[in-house]
Order: sequence, then C-alpha cells, then structure tokens
Amino acid sequence: MTMDMKQSIAQLIGQAVMRCYPDADGLLDDEAASGYLEVPPERDMGDYAFPCFRLSKALRQAPVQIAETLAAAISAPDLCEARPMGGYLNFYFNRVNFARQTLREVLDSGDAYGGGQEGKTICIDFSSINIAKRFHIGHLSTTMIGHSLRRIYDFLGYHTISINHLGDWGTQFGKLISAYKHWGDRDHVERGGVEALTQLYVRFHDEAERDPSLEDEGRAWFKKIEDGDPEAIEIFNWFKTLTLRDTQRIYDMLGVTFDSYAGEAFYNDKMDRVIQELKAKNLLALSDGASIVDLDDCCMPPCLILKKDGATLYATRDIAAALYRKDTYHFDKCLYVVAYQQDLHFRQWFKVVEKMGYDWAKDLIHVAFGMISYEGQTLATRKGHVVYLEELLSRAKEQALDIIREKSPDLDNPEEVAAQVGIGAVIYADLQNNRIKDIDFWWDRALNFDGETGPYVQYTHARCCSVLRKAATQDGPIVDADYSGLSDDHAQDILRLLSRFPEAVREAADRYEPSIVTRALTEIAKSYNKFYYEHRILDAEPVVREARLALTRAVKQILRMALYLIGMDAPERM
Ligand code: ARG
Repeated sequence: MTMDMKQSIAQLIGQAVMRCYPDADGLLDDEAASGYLEVPPERDMGDYAFPCFRLSKALRQAPVQIAETLAAAISAPDLCEARPMGGYLNFYFNRVNFARQTLREVLDSGDAYGGGQEGKTICIDFSSINIAKRFHIGHLSTTMIGHSLRRIYDFLGYHTISINHLGDWGTQFGKLISAYKHWGDRDHVERGGVEALTQLYVRFHDEAERDPSLEDEGRAWFKKIEDGDPEAIEIFNWFKTLTLRDTQRIYDMLGVTFDSYAGEAFYNDKMDRVIQELKAKNLLALSDGASIVDLDDCCMPPCLILKKDGATLYATRDIAAALYRKDTYHFDKCLYVVAYQQDLHFRQWFKVVEKMGYDWAKDLIHVAFGMISYEGQTLATRKGHVVYLEELLSRAKEQALDIIREKSPDLDNPEEVAAQVGIGAVIYADLQNNRIKDIDFWWDRALNFDGETGPYVQYTHARCCSVLRKAATQDGPIVDADYSGLSDDHAQDILRLLSRFPEAVREAADRYEPSIVTRALTEIAKSYNKFYYEHRILDAEPVVREARLALTRAVKQILRMALYLIGMDAPERM
C-alpha cells in the first residue's frame, strides 16, 4: 500500500533509533514516529521530514547531531533517501519506485481504492424537510452534506441508514386544513402542490388577523388529527403526499435517496414510553404546568418535554426517535445534519438521553453547518428573497447550457451535460468549505470554468478522458511503462496527492466533513492541469508516454470517485 510510505519511513526511523541508541529502549514506536513525521513546506526539503528535537530531551543530544547519526544509519535506496538538514531528517522518495507502486495500487484496486470494510452502522438524519413548505436553498446544505456523508461511509464499508425525519407534526397543519376547508379547491391544490399549500397558509394568517376565531378552528382541526379523525387524517396525508411528490423532483435532480421517511408524526405512539421512562427515572419536573428536564447542572435551560396542555414537543420526538433508532438499527453512531442554529436543542436532548442512563448518548452527533445566503442577500422566509431550490437548479442547468453550447458546440448530449455541470456547480459551491462556515452563493463564481469550482474539476476529469480516448485511437506500439518518465516534480506532486486520497476520505468520515474530499479533489485536478501544461503526453517517446497515460488513468479514476463521493456527476465530455 502506498500509505505505507509513511509507515515504512516510520519503521526505518524506529529501527535506526534502536540501533544508534540501544539504551533508549522503547523510546519511539512506529506509531509515534509516524505521528511526528511532517510534510515539509518546500519540495526540495523532501517528501517527509522527521523533527529530531522530538527526541533530543530523552536522548540528551542536540537535534542536529541526532539527525546526522540517524541519517548515517539509514539505508533503503529502493524506498527513499534520508538526508539531515538542520535538526530535521528529510526523506526523499525513490521517485521511480514510488510512481510504480502508487500507480499499481490505484489501478489494480480500481474503484475500491481508498474504500474500506468498516462494517459499523451509522444512521444519518438529513434533509428532514417540513411538510407543506417549499424546498428552499436553506435546505441545500443539510441535503448535500448528508448525502455526501452517506456515500463516504458506504464507500468505507459502513452500513448506512439515511433518514428523512419529516417535519409533519404541529398545530400549523390544523390551520392548513382549516384554510383548505374555507378557500381550497381540490383540483387546484392537487395541481399546485406545495406552492398552493403555501398560499393557503399565507391566506390563513392574513384572514386570522381580522378574524381571530380562525385560530380556534385551526386548533380544533389539529385536535382532530391527533384524535385520528378520518377526514382530518385523509386531508393531512394528502398534503404530505403532495409535498413529497414535489420534493422528489428535487431529490431526483440531486440523486438523493432515503431509506426511511419516518418523521415526527411516526413517533406519536412512541412518546408515552419516553414520558414513562423519564418519570420512572425521576427526571421529569413541573414548571408552570409544563413538564421539563432540568439541566441547570449542565448550564443549559431546561429541556421542554410536555406543554401545559400535555402536547409533546420537538425535543420529545427527537428523544423518542433516538430510542427507536437505537432499538431498530443498533447504530454505532447517529448523525444529525442540521443547521448550527439548533445547537442548543441538540445539546439539551442529547443530555437528557445521557441522564436517562444511556451511554450511547455519546454516539449522537450534531453535524452542524453554517448559513447560506444568495448573492449577498440573506434568506428571509417571510415574503421577499426566498430562493427555491428547484428554481435555482433549473437556472443552473440553463446557464450551464449557454456556456456549453458556446464552448463545445459539437457535443452530442448538451442538455444532459448541462444538467450535470449546472447542478454539480451548485453542489460544489455548497461542499467546498468547512461546513460550519457561512456560504454566499454567487452565480458567476459557481459556474466559472477556471478556479476552484465544480465545472473546473469536472472539466479536468473530461480532459483525462479525452487524453485516454485519443491514446486508444493511436496505434502506438505496446510497451512497458518506464516510470522514470514520472520523476519530475509535477508528476510527483500528483502521485503524492493520489497516495493520500485514502487518508482524506477517512478524515472526511471521522470529522463529518465532506469538504475534505472536495479539497483533495480540487488539489488533484489542479496538479494534473499543471502537469498537462508542462509535459507532452501523447507524443512523448513510447515508454514515457505509457507512464504518463497510466498516471492520467489513475487521476481520472480518483477524480470520478471523489466527485461521486460529494454527490457530483462526472461527464466524460464537456
Ligand atoms: N425539520 C427540521 C427543520 O427543518 C429539521 C429536523 C432535523 N432532524 C431532527 N431529528 N431534529 O428545521
């Protein structure tokens, strides 16, 4: 394995320390040595550097001297060369062997390269839309971060369960039924879908300002839903169907799927257990008639469990859902991909689960992300700048189509590619930076073919495909690759990035951070383009050409996988 370069170097260091300093037994095991290894800031300082000051206290020797001693004791020319420089021991890969080994591993493993067989179970609660509300760009991040994490975990061999925890419970649905009964028309709503429902909801609020009795009516309808009144349930389920129908169009465009749509309402009959258990464990207290769990000892406001009228709350349902998921899926971790504004909510009810005595409370993880604004404007849900996702994605396709028509007029399937590029641009913009950072979405930034963008990385992938297509149609002699054709800095930069790709994927999973894959993807694309401009590939001499084509094949394979992992398509021509 190429990851082993670091491992092998760590072993060399460990052995050299043992030989040169026999008294310092057990001072440095391989793992510690590997942990100390750094990637030097400059190319001419080697591929890895070992900072000898780490040992100087224990060995009672100056770092410079340690570096020289160890360098003299290390000889592994097939692997690397060790040179002392100041207090550092710098390691220079044997470039030809490194190239051969890396490319073999990448190409032999194929799409399994960087993947794993972890076997653990992870629930991912994401997207979690609200019934009767249109999907706006505020829901983009949860959808794409969750979707990407799911792909990353699947790739690493986890068993994943993706859950859309629908927001399908609350008094607003009583109001909506009441509005529908007054002003709704079945056909109109059936055709208009969520948009029609939203209009009804807005109308309800306008009219209720003049006629407050409407509020009571709304409450009465909600009570009917709670009591299982057939008419109320029928209408409400229909609203749900309409919402899911409209939302499905967006999920289809994004390629997002779910294993479960069990939302808040699903837990109606599972709430009693929570209440009984909280009571039995003496955690429930009364406060102004409401039932709460006191969290004073954790410096948090109390977690509200039951309202005065006995109604359950968002947190109550989340607790019920967590217990249900643990029983049903036996998860090792359960992730909640939800905006950071809900931070307190999650900290509170995670604490409640902990107080209930469940040690798996530590496996509940709020994967928080920042806000998204659109061309400098924050999203106001009340009238004004709401940007609906469906419109955003359609516009992305149209704009990409204009660009593609101009750049590649001969493409056979411009519409298809435009969808891949336009939607990809939006996804890339969303997953480019650390998730906690706020995002400001700008069209000309997202759709730029130069710079760090979706189209740029997709284009690099298409470029690799084009090089390989041309190579296949030229009848060059079949020769064994000579990897010395890859010992220049540019090729070595790419190889280093390819060899670290598995590490990037693991780190992305460990930190719930798809942007780590986005970054790896972007760095590989950039380094390949540099290489492409500096070196001839197709008309290089045959042995060198073979090596450079192998490199191109490896880059193409990893770019495609990385794009897939963040939820983007990889068109072969664009
Ligand atoms: N529907 C909620 C919202 O849009 C998000 C739900 C997140 N998931 C959860 N289990 N609380 O704000």
